[in-house]
Amino acid sequence: MARIAVFNQKGGVGKTTTTLNLAGLLARRGTDPLVIDLDPQGHLTEVCGVSVPRADASLYGLYAHGVPLAALSMSTRNGWRLVPSHIELSKVDTQFGKGPAVLTRLAVALEKEPAGRPVLMDACPMLGVLSLASVFAADGVIIPISTDYLAMKGALQMERTLKALEQVLKRRVPRRYLITRYDSRRRMSLDIERQLRARYGDEVCATRIAENVSLAESPASNQDVFEHAPASRGARDYGRLLEELLATGFIRLERPAAAPAVRTAPPGARTALAAGQEFLLRRGAATGLRLVHTRRAGS
Ligand SMILES: Nc1ncnc2c1ncn2[C@@H]1O[C@H](COP(=O)(O)OP(=O)(O)OP(=O)(O)O)[C@@H](O)[C@H]1O
Ligand SMILES: [Mg+2]
Repeated sequence: MARIAVFNQKGGVGKTTTTLNLAGLLARRGTDPLVIDLDPQGHLTEVCGVSVPRADASLYGLYAHGVPLAALSMSTRNGWRLVPSHIELSKVDTQFGKGPAVLTRLAVALEKEPAGRPVLMDACPMLGVLSLASVFAADGVIIPISTDYLAMKGALQMERTLKALEQVLKRRVPRRYLITRYDSRRRMSLDIERQLRARYGDEVCATRIAENVSLAESPASNQDVFEHAPASRGARDYGRLLEELLATGFIRLERPAAAPAVRTAPPGARTALAAGQEFLLRRGAATGLRLVHTRRAGS
């Protein structure tokens, strides 16, 4: 359980901030984490001070030419390896289709990575091939929920998306809802926390990430919060979060004694994207979603 997708279809909830700081912590533990930036916006890539001149040198290279992740990943000054993003990634849905080969390409590519190596995947705020690929490739999903307007709506959308995918995967996707940008002086923060805990119980992390200026500022200096402001509230919160995720077994760092199970394309993956989208549309939940429409199921 060390391959984690950080995903919420809602934008600006703290996905990249969470990925950046968990990666920083895992690197400090000497685990040599691999971080994959699946967001064509490339925020995480930018935070690392990395600029990729050619799309083929980014994650796009995996989809366009089958370039192995090892050849795409690069060392960062932050102490972990990054598979960078590129704006061309926004074309993956339309260029390569939405069939099982595309949806599971990342999972299959990760099989070539050392089994005990933690992987963090920073998804984009969109229900498309890349976001779904991150869930297929993950052992678990962290869903940051920013305690602002429409937070519960975002949480319910994610619940529906995962439920639709589970019908395809035939297993429950382990998940943790993470309360972010929490401000105990704001009634909205308290209300959203209460609603989340009532609905999702133990799947909501006990640790809350407070609104903290150091978390907002550290990316500007290409740093995680532990380097930028180690004594800050943000550093403390993310430190506690990792401890909680390790203590509850949501992230397990030990290298498995036995050979890892080979991940194959899940049966029925051909319809994975369509299933997710149809489910949302059927429930009328797509309103306000940035949804990538499926024209065909095969690739
Ligand atoms: N706990 C926090 N306190 C203060 N600012 C925060 C906090 N978490 C995130 N931010 C800021 O909020 C903004 C959005 O955060 P972030 O980029 O991590 O969200 P995201 O979910 O990755 O966004 P997107 O959906 O666009 O990828 C950023 O400017 C970030 O610095
Ligand atoms: Mg982001």
